Amino acid sequence: MSLLFSPLELRGLRLKNRLAMSPMCQYSATEGGEVTQWHLLHYPTRALGGVGLVVVEATAVLPEGRISPFDLGIWSEDHLPGLAALAKSIREAGAVPGIQLAHAGRKAGTARPWEGGKPLGWRVVGPSPLPFAEGYPVPEALDEAGMARILEAFVEGARRALRAGFQVIELHMAHGYLLSSFLSPLANRREDAYGGGLEGRMRFPLQVAEAVRAAIPPELPLFVRVSATDWAEGGWGLEDTLAFAARLKSLGVDLLDCSSGGVVPGVRVPVAPGFQVPFADAVKKRVGMRTGAVGLITEPKQAETILQAGSADLILLGRVLLRDPYFPLRAAQALGERPEVPPQYQRAF
Ligand SMILES: Cc1cc2nc3c(=O)[nH]c(=O)nc-3n(C[C@H](O)[C@H](O)[C@H](O)COP(=O)(O)O)c2cc1C
Repeated sequence: MSLLFSPLELRGLRLKNRLAMSPMCQYSATEGGEVTQWHLLHYPTRALGGVGLVVVEATAVLPEGRISPFDLGIWSEDHLPGLAALAKSIREAGAVPGIQLAHAGRKAGTARPWEGGKPLGWRVVGPSPLPFAEGYPVPEALDEAGMARILEAFVEGARRALRAGFQVIELHMAHGYLLSSFLSPLANRREDAYGGGLEGRMRFPLQVAEAVRAAIPPELPLFVRVSATDWAEGGWGLEDTLAFAARLKSLGVDLLDCSSGGVVPGVRVPVAPGFQVPFADAVKKRVGMRTGAVGLITEPKQAETILQAGSADLILLGRVLLRDPYFPLRAAQALGERPEVPPQYQRAF
């Protein structure tokens, strides 16, 4: 039997296989952050396609923490019915419903990619008054009251996600968004307890992880997505990620989803098949923590090899699932497994 199609136990939760849908913004919510028909078609279709876990896109814990005005939101009770319908639709289509909780920080408030992606002039917050790039707003540096409000919003978001029926919470600490920007010395120039050396820069993200973990029942897992490197001179790197992972692990974080970049613009990223897998591998082997591998994993054998090498526990698929929702069913066939095909589709496989 392949590892890819063997179950993964995370606390009291069982994923039927090691394939997950990576969180991908759809920029298709209402301007109030509510689920639309798009989400109710898009996500369960990938669940029918055979992934064990669907991680719903970056969902904003506060309105000012949205990447675009059309991001999903989870800051209000008004979001609950739509999110509950979404979680149910994913579960009924055969996958565990998960959700990524996010605050975009200094990268908040941009137009949708297909509308140019430019900053819309929102007031944004960050660790320091440093804009992400030219043309982006100067963030207001958060004071401790502002940070406490955001921490509480993550906790409330997690509670609401659980009430909606999501069983995996992932905290977005990657790609230069708020918690990621606290980690990186290129975005965080604070001189208080939340900046300076590694310990100070990790402090707020660790506090958020600890508070969210306490809000989740012990039988359900917590994931964190990080940018394992900024790909920039003087930035956050793999050694920092290893130290951070060890701390997250000790707080009860169950899996580190290892992405990279997005913290500073204009960097050269050596994009190639599986280019981020070495980060997942290092965290898994050197910290002894479960990891997720993501980024240009597009072939069944490639995914299986990553698991066989002990580099990761979970394979997250992004764009390949936008192209082909049924990739997992096909992957099972390619690896000589009997795919778990919905009975209605059996004659196609
Ligand atoms: C349209 C799109 C939206 C994305 N949105 C998110 C997101 O909400 N949160 C996140 O952590 N990563 C996001 N990503 C990154 C993906 O989750 C994934 O890490 C990346 O696409 C690399 O994997 P792939 O090569 O399999 O696509 C997005 C990527 C795409 C293409």
